[in-house]
Amino acid sequence: MSDGRNIKNIALVGFMGTGKSTVGRQLAADLQFRFIDTDELIEEQAGMKISEIFTTAGEPMFRQLEGRLVDELADWENTVISTGGGLIVHPGNLEKLKRHALVVCLWAGPQAIYQRTAHQTHRPLLQGPEPLKRIEELLALREPFYRQADLLVSTELRSVRELATNIAHQFRLAGNNLSDL
Ligand code: S3P
Repeated sequence: MSDGRNIKNIALVGFMGTGKSTVGRQLAADLQFRFIDTDELIEEQAGMKISEIFTTAGEPMFRQLEGRLVDELADWENTVISTGGGLIVHPGNLEKLKRHALVVCLWAGPQAIYQRTAHQTHRPLLQGPEPLKRIEELLALREPFYRQADLLVSTELRSVRELATNIAHQFRLAGNNLSDL
């Protein structure tokens, strides 16, 4: 495998509300892989909800926990890893994931993300007074990072079924020759 990469997992990255967990579960079922969600693992390890971690310990502590988890994932295989929306923005995390995973970014525009997240309350970063504006700002800041994924896949107008099938296909190709992607 080129560049010292050993692709044995799939990491789904991308903004909040792009469907990483939903698509990831379908993909894992299709490939008969294990599914994990970094937010869920952090909540289990910390014994607290993400929103509580943000309020009691602060976002920098949450990012530290994410970084620690990324290090632990290096030994895993046959796993679909759904990551929190800010995980690959933190220095080093994307490079570490790429060593063992095909990194696929799920994409959606601000309006679609706003509609998908508007009635949800579990994401501390979107609980302020102007969520759409916040989404636009954060997405613009993060876009250069998301563009460094191996694949960038639009989730608008595509079903979960279609997305999972497409990503599984790309993963099989990557196993044979990543440099062709
Ligand atoms: C975050 C996204 C969330 C969660 C936390 C911070 C972010 O995960 O990790 O609230 O910085 O974008 P989802 O992308 O799964 O909602």
